[in-house]
Amino acid sequence: MASKRRLQQLTPSVLIPLAGLPPRPLGPGGKDNEAAIDQLVAEMTQRIKAITLAEAENNIIPRFNQVKTVACVSAEFRVHEDIPVQLRHGLFSQPASYPALLRFANAINRDDSKKDIRGLSIRVSNVRGPVVWGEPGIQDFLLNSYPALFAATPEEFLSFIRARQEGRELRFFLNPLDPHLKSLGIVLKAQKRHLSPLDIRYWSTVPFRLGETGGQVVKYSVTPCSSYRTTKAVRPGENQLRAAIKAHLQQEEACFSFGVQVQKDPESMPIEDASVIWDESVSPFQTVATITIRNQDFDNSESLAVCERSSFNPWQSLVAHEPLGRMNAVRRLVYAEAARLRNKE
Ligand code: HEM
Repeated sequence: MASKRRLQQLTPSVLIPLAGLPPRPLGPGGKDNEAAIDQLVAEMTQRIKAITLAEAENNIIPRFNQVKTVACVSAEFRVHEDIPVQLRHGLFSQPASYPALLRFANAINRDDSKKDIRGLSIRVSNVRGPVVWGEPGIQDFLLNSYPALFAATPEEFLSFIRARQEGRELRFFLNPLDPHLKSLGIVLKAQKRHLSPLDIRYWSTVPFRLGETGGQVVKYSVTPCSSYRTTKAVRPGENQLRAAIKAHLQQEEACFSFGVQVQKDPESMPIEDASVIWDESVSPFQTVATITIRNQDFDNSESLAVCERSSFNPWQSLVAHEPLGRMNAVRRLVYAEAARLRNKE
């Protein structure tokens, strides 16, 4: 039961008054960009509200993305000692261990046995340093199981949201007047059957700053480092991924390496195109931390309900890891409003 208590302490998100905080300046791009971002946020928020309210069941409003809560587990986030000096910023500035909460999810399917894109949201607590937004002491990282996003820009993402609201997602991809064939290619490659969320890689897909001022531009990836691997579905069916996590942890603790990839070339590693994979042979991910998940009681209705109500935001971040680019810019208020709606605040 101690682990359940710990999980609840690590899930303060529903209490964070993110949406009540003053807006943050958007940086380069000037007033026109700021106005365009405000418009995107307003339309996305309104459409996401309508979509998720229409999908509510048993008085639970689902997330717009990463809808199926597979599991929330508590973990240790240990920052390494031997980090190259140029990466020692913010959370990575000195070796230390932090409590963390991990949420594993499926993007669209409730049934774990179906092909999907998986999500991993990480909340590191007790961190030191000023935050760009949100609550002091907390650093969130949001990752997907594919290194590129199907939408290059927030405008493209909005076109998809419009199509989804009309129940015509295919039309977004195959509209003869405005086809999105690259997006379709990414979705088809990204959706996979997985045997365990503990055995797959995750990527931030969009970039972040590393450093308090100026600094470098980086992406994140989380790579499994457990010796244990799930080789076949434990309890095939709707909740097989949850069952796989449970079986893994009962056998052996799970581990992930947390890596940072530094932008080397702004042309081939752009900030403003989330559909471009930054070449790992040009700039490999460098491990800066290890995440360890020990056996715990997470597969119970109370923990799953807390997990469902939790919320993460890429802007819940230290200044040293500020989200970059227009895609990230729209996410701040869109996520905050979506979380507020879900939790009926
Ligand atoms: C304009 C771009 C994007 C929009 C509008 C958007 C929208 C959303 C929304 C509304 C949610 C639900 C939030 C909540 O109810 O608490 C969500 C969740 C999520 N999104 Fe995005 N998203 C965008 C880009 C991205 C990108 C680039 C990633 C990259 C990894 C990402 C990963 C996730 C993850 C992992 C979650 C689940 C968070 C959780 O566990 O609560 N999204 N997204």
